[in-house]
Amino acid sequence: MILVTGGAGYIGSHAVKALLQKNCAVLVFDNLSAGHELAVPEGAVLVKGDLLDPGAIGEALQRYPVTLVMHFAAHSIVPESVQDPLLSYRNIAGTVNLLSAMRQAGVQRLVFSSTAAVYGEPVKLPIPEDHPLAPTNPYGQSKAWIETILAQLHRSTGLSYISLRYFNAAGADPEGELGEDHHPETHLIPLVLKTALGQRDKIYIYGRDYPTADGTAVRDYIHVTDLIEAHLLAMEVLQEERAVQGVYNLGHQRGYSVLEVINAARKVTGREIPAEPAPRRPGDPSILIAASEKIKRELGWRTRFTALDEIIATAWAWYRRHPGGY
Ligand SMILES: NC(=O)c1ccc[n+]([C@@H]2O[C@H](COP(=O)([O-])OP(=O)(O)OC[C@H]3O[C@@H](n4cnc5c(N)ncnc54)[C@H](O)[C@@H]3O)[C@@H](O)[C@H]2O)c1
Repeated sequence: MILVTGGAGYIGSHAVKALLQKNCAVLVFDNLSAGHELAVPEGAVLVKGDLLDPGAIGEALQRYPVTLVMHFAAHSIVPESVQDPLLSYRNIAGTVNLLSAMRQAGVQRLVFSSTAAVYGEPVKLPIPEDHPLAPTNPYGQSKAWIETILAQLHRSTGLSYISLRYFNAAGADPEGELGEDHHPETHLIPLVLKTALGQRDKIYIYGRDYPTADGTAVRDYIHVTDLIEAHLLAMEVLQEERAVQGVYNLGHQRGYSVLEVINAARKVTGREIPAEPAPRRPGDPSILIAASEKIKRELGWRTRFTALDEIIATAWAWYRRHPGGY
C-alpha cells in the first residue's frame, strides 16, 4: 500500500489517481487544511489526520500495510510563510513525525515534494541540482532543511528516498476530474484563469523591470501529469533498489514570462483578461528555469505536456467545469 500524505491537495490528488490506475492500494493522510475530501479519488482510503499529531500518523502506519510514502503534505503558501515563518517550519515538525512513524513501522521508502525555492536567487541558469542552496523565504528554507534531514537519515538508518524539486506545477487532470483549488490562490495560471472567468477584476503583474526580454519574471511551468509521472518512476526505483538517494529537478528547461502566460491564457480562453503592473514582490527571483537532464538521463523521465497553451488548456477545462472549485 502507498501512503500519500496531502493526497486531498492539488498535486497529491493527481498522484492518488495515477496510483489507483496502476492498481496500487492507496492510503491518503490529510488534515484537509488546504485539501478537499472531494478531490480524493474513489478507491483510496482517507484518514483525516494531522502530521503535527505524532499519534495520528503513527497509528495510520501501524494499521495499514504501507511500503512506500509519497509526502506531499505541507503548508505551501509562500506569502503567508513570509508573514508567519512558523507555518513553514511546522512542515519540518510534521515531516519528522512522519519519518519517526515510518521508522517505527519499518517503512524505508519515501518520495519527497521539494521545490525550486530551495535555490533562492540563481547564480547559474538553467539551475542544476548541485546549484548552491540559498532559499530567500521560510518555505524554501524549510524544504532545504527537510532535504538535509533526509540525507542524514539515509546515511544513518538507510532511508531510501528521492527528493523531487518541482518548479512551477500547473495544469489539471486531462480527464477533467481533478484540478487546482487553493484558498487563497497565489499561483499565476489559476489567478489568470479566474480573471478570465470574471471572478477577479484583473491580474497584477508584479515587476515590469526584471532583466528579461519583456521585463516580467520568467518561470518554468510543469504539468501536474508530468510531475506525477516522475513520482511513479521514483517509486519504481525505490521498489527495485535498496539504499537509494536521489535529488532531481522537475522542470522543462524552458521558461515563460508572466506576460507570455497572460497572452497564452487570452488565446486559450478567448477572453480579454485585464492586467495591471504592480511593484516587484521582495524575494521573487527574475528567472527560475530548471536543468532537467538528470532525471531524464537517470530515470528515463519524458514529459507529455511541453507547450504552455496545452498546460493552460487543461487547467481552463477544469475551471470551466468547476468555477466554484470542488
Ligand atoms: N504547487 C506547486 O507549484 C509546488 C511547487 C513546488 C513544490 N510544491 C510542493 O508540493 C506539495 C503539494 O503541493 P500542492 O500545491 O498540491 O499543495 P496543496 O496545499 O494543494 O496540498 C497539500 C495538502 O497537504 C495537506 N496538509 C497540509 N498540512 C498538513 C498536515 N500538517 N497534516 C496533514 N495534511 C496536511 C493539505 O490539506 C493539502 O491537502 C507541497 O509539499 C508543496 O510544497 C508545490
